[in-house]
This record gives sequence, C-alpha cells and structure tokens, in this order.
Amino acid sequence: MSIESESGIRAKKEMTSTAKYLNMAILIIILGVSAYIIGRIVNDIGVVLFTYHPTFMVLGYLILMSNAILIMADSSILTTNMSHQNRITAHWIIQLCALILFVIAQICIFTHKNNLGKSHFQTTHSIFGLITVSLTMLSAIGGVFTKYAMQLRNTVKPVVLKCFHSFAGILVYILAVITMILGFSQMWNEDKDAYIKPILIVLIVIIAFFILIKSFVLFISRFKDIIA
Ligand code: HEM
Repeated sequence: MSIESESGIRAKKEMTSTAKYLNMAILIIILGVSAYIIGRIVNDIGVVLFTYHPTFMVLGYLILMSNAILIMADSSILTTNMSHQNRITAHWIIQLCALILFVIAQICIFTHKNNLGKSHFQTTHSIFGLITVSLTMLSAIGGVFTKYAMQLRNTVKPVVLKCFHSFAGILVYILAVITMILGFSQMWNEDKDAYIKPILIVLIVIIAFFILIKSFVLFISRFKDIIA
C-alpha cells in the first residue's frame, strides 16, 4: 500500500467519542458472552479437563484475539495513546498469549477424548476447529514475517506481507467464530437453549462485524494497491 493511502485510512488516530462508546459497548458484550459460555460450562459440568477447552478457546479468540485485531486497526480504546510501534508490540504479545491458550485448550480436549476412548475429529465443530487452529498457527508465522517486513523488503514488498497477514487474520477470526458457535450448539440442547443460542449467535455476529470491519477496509485498500 502506498504510504499516502495507508495513512489516509489511519489518519483519524484520535477516536471520536461515538467510536469510544461503541468500542466500550463491544468490549462489554465480549465479556458478557465469554462469561456466559464459561460460566455455563463450569455450572453444567464443573472444572474438569474438558472445561479448559472451551474456556481457553473463548478467552483466546473472543477476548485476546478480538483486542489484538482492534489494536492493529487503531480502533481500541485500550491503546488510544500508544505509538504505532507500541501497538505492534501489544498486538504480538497478546497474540502470543492467545496462541499459548489455544495449544493448552487443544491438548486438553485431545487428552480428554483419549481418556474417554473417543475418536478424534468426527464432528463438524472438531473439523472446523482443527482448520481454525492450524490456520491460526500459520497466520502467526506470517505475523513474524510481517513484523520484519521492512527488513525483508528486498525479497517481498511490505504491503504484500501486510495484505496476506490481514487476510489470514480476518479468515481465522471468522472461522473461530463459526467454530465457537458450532461448539456450544452441539453441547446445549435444553429447552432454554431455544432462545439462548440465537441470542448468543446474534451477539457473536455483532462482535465479529465490529472487530473486523476496519481491518477489512484496510485489507481491501492494501489489496487494491497491490493489483494497481
Ligand atoms: C474457536 C474456538 C474453538 C476451537 C478452535 C475448537 C476446536 C476443537 C477441536 C479441534 C476439537 C476436536 C478435538 C479432537 O477430536 O481431538 C474440539 C472438540 C470439542 N469442542 Fe471445541 N473448539 C473451540 C471452541 C469450543 C467451544 C466454545 C465449545 C463449547 C462451548 C467447544 C466444545 C467442544 C466439544 C464438546 C468437543 C468434543 C466433541 C467434538 O469432538 O466435537 N469447543 N474443539
């Protein structure tokens, strides 16, 4: 992306008060949805090995990754006064913490199913989950290259690396949202879930829209620059 067009999109570093309130509202919805999913699982089955799977996935994708994406889109109230360089540092540290949670969550579910003698990757949720976690790892590796984009500029244009990394991030987040929805949908089938599940799905879709919208605009703009 040309410096002009990227800075055009990032020009409004100072968030408007509407954007700040919207950001706060989304953070509250994220915390509410996460608390419901984790609280419900702990309430239904207690703290057993399985419990760490949805808990760490929700903490990693819904809380940490959402904020890491917002930070790089300059849309987070948590980092409004930070320099771009510090935002990059905050982004990769948060993503690293999320990655650690994903690995632990995956080990927990794998071991839990082994202990029960169940076969692996048999449901739509588990197949989506496997693809999501694998792409998350690939996207993280891409993130390392993107961090050193300037040093690698003689090999590949920085805008190409940035474009790939933002595309991978958007794709991973969308897949994670679908996987989460499939996860609780297959577990919860009580009478009350007839209205709880649609409410959760609508809230998660609203969260995903808000989290991804600016990154998507940035991605499109970088992509146009590459093909121009
Ligand atoms: C994006 C977040 C998530 C990812 C990437 C993910 C990934 C996975 C994967 C790969 C498996 C298969 C493990 C195996 O067969 O060895 C699995 C199993 C499972 N997950 Fe998730 N999961 C996520 C979130 C959730 C959530 C939020 C819940 C429930 C609220 C959940 C409930 C389950 C259950 C019940 C199983 C065992 C049954 C099955 O294999 O489908 N997961 N998950």
